[in-house]
Amino acid sequence: MSRPHVSIEQATGADVEAVHALDDACFGVDAWSQESVRTALTGPHRHALLAHEGEELVGYAISMLGGDVLDLQRIAVAPGHRRSGLARVLFDRLCQEGAAGRAQRLMLEVSEANASGRAFYEACGLTEVARRPAYYRDGSAALVMELPLTPEDEDVVEAHLARERTDVAELAELAEREEWRDA
Ligand SMILES: CC(C)(COP(=O)(O)OP(=O)(O)OC[C@H]1O[C@@H](n2cnc3c(N)ncnc32)[C@H](O)[C@@H]1OP(=O)(O)O)[C@@H](O)C(=O)NCCC(=O)NCCS
Repeated sequence: MSRPHVSIEQATGADVEAVHALDDACFGVDAWSQESVRTALTGPHRHALLAHEGEELVGYAISMLGGDVLDLQRIAVAPGHRRSGLARVLFDRLCQEGAAGRAQRLMLEVSEANASGRAFYEACGLTEVARRPAYYRDGSAALVMELPLTPEDEDVVEAHLARERTDVAELAELAEREEWRDA
């Protein structure tokens, strides 16, 4: 039996419940309330992308545009789907769409204690520009990280999107092979 393909699309108000459930599974005590998720998906200057495998929500990335800064507020992948490049696909797509708009840099805060989040952002080329001590509820510091975004011409954006379509197809193929191997 083949596994459904991964698709990436923009979130709408209809996705609040599913994103809230996945946020809860990924962030536990730091998960957003349902109202915060609704604002994050539908509020002004927000941009949210969802990754579905078949009907299942397996990842999401939420950003907010302020001036020329794209603030990455959340990115998460369901625990059983990690380390297969899914967050990277969401991240690249968010950056391209931000750069195609008016964003000149992407910024975010990540807890110093979040080893996987930090490793992911470093792999994406972000660099630390500031540190806010005792920022989170558990007393950990926030690292402020930044990535310049270069506006690209239409051909380059299209080439990126084509590569991502291939990435998504490859992810689905990989998932299919894994299922075949596990069977
Ligand atoms: C961080 C997170 C989004 C990464 O998602 P993912 O789909 O597993 O990431 P990818 O597969 O796209 O990883 C791309 C690269 O990032 C790095 N990376 C990702 N997770 C890593 C980990 N746990 N340890 C070390 N490096 C990691 C690796 O270089 C990886 O490339 P590789 O697998 O070829 O080595 C995921 O672990 C998650 O949802 N964590 C909980 C939520 C969270 O902390 N989000 C970030 C703060 S908002």
